[in-house]
Amino acid sequence: MNKILVSLLLTLGITGMAHAAGDAAAGQAKAAVCGACHGPDGNSAAPNFPKLAGQGERYLTKQLHDIKAGKRTVLEMTGLLTNLSDQDLADIAAYFASQKGSVGAADPKIVARGEALFRGGKLPEGMPACTGCHSPNGAGNAAAGFPHLGGQHAQYVAKQLTNFREGERTNDGDTMVMRSIAAKLSNKDIEALASYVQGLH
Ligand code: HEC
Ligand code: HEC
Repeated sequence: MNKILVSLLLTLGITGMAHAAGDAAAGQAKAAVCGACHGPDGNSAAPNFPKLAGQGERYLTKQLHDIKAGKRTVLEMTGLLTNLSDQDLADIAAYFASQKGSVGAADPKIVARGEALFRGGKLPEGMPACTGCHSPNGAGNAAAGFPHLGGQHAQYVAKQLTNFREGERTNDGDTMVMRSIAAKLSNKDIEALASYVQGLH
């Protein structure tokens, strides 16, 4: 692991917010309205709606707070979280975290490029491998709040990487961990990484 990565990991760990513990059983009923887009168990059918099933609880809770506070813009969810308390958000996060995520398939034509970037980064340009934080099988690191990526829809992943690169998603903290990584990715890199991630498990 290089020095930059270690200091990023430490900073992210120290600045993580503390939230109430969630109750998955209570969260299931509260998540009913979310199922229309994200799927009742968090495995969405449409590729522009992210899968939430099996996603880390800490990451989900953070995204819900960010979306509610307007730090991350999700137009489709406008107003949906306004009347939910911190406990509601924690319960919903616990529910989706407890579900089993489904896996898709990678495009065989671009999988090699995606795998090389995911596992090796671009060391000459100082870009670390994705595996350092998102783990080799894409499971992420739930305790640290590093999201699970394996099986996520390629279309959604590509949009996030593009949004980080273009500064349209800015909720990755003061270290700008994902914005600085995405800045090193071409459109073709993003397409290959997103496809690789969709089939990863
Ligand atoms: C009308 C469709 C719709 C509904 C209903 C909806 N969402 Fe979403 N949600 C989206 C879209 C679209 C995105 C991704 C936006 C983007 O591309 O950044 C998203 C993103 C998210 C994310 C971020 C996922 C990630 O991997 O970072 C979470 C968490 C989330 N939604 C939770 C919920 C919860 C909880 C509810 C119910 C209270 C809900 N959503 C209801 C459409 C919806
Ligand atoms: C140093 C740690 C680190 C490295 C290395 C890293 N990431 Fe991330 N990544 C994060 C963190 C932390 C977040 C969550 C940011 C937030 O809280 O919104 C994230 C978020 C993401 C998301 C958004 C997930 C979602 O559900 O919306 C994608 C996609 C992603 N990373 C892909 C990658 C890819 C591809 C690579 C390699 C090219 C990579 N990451 C390398 C830490 C890292």
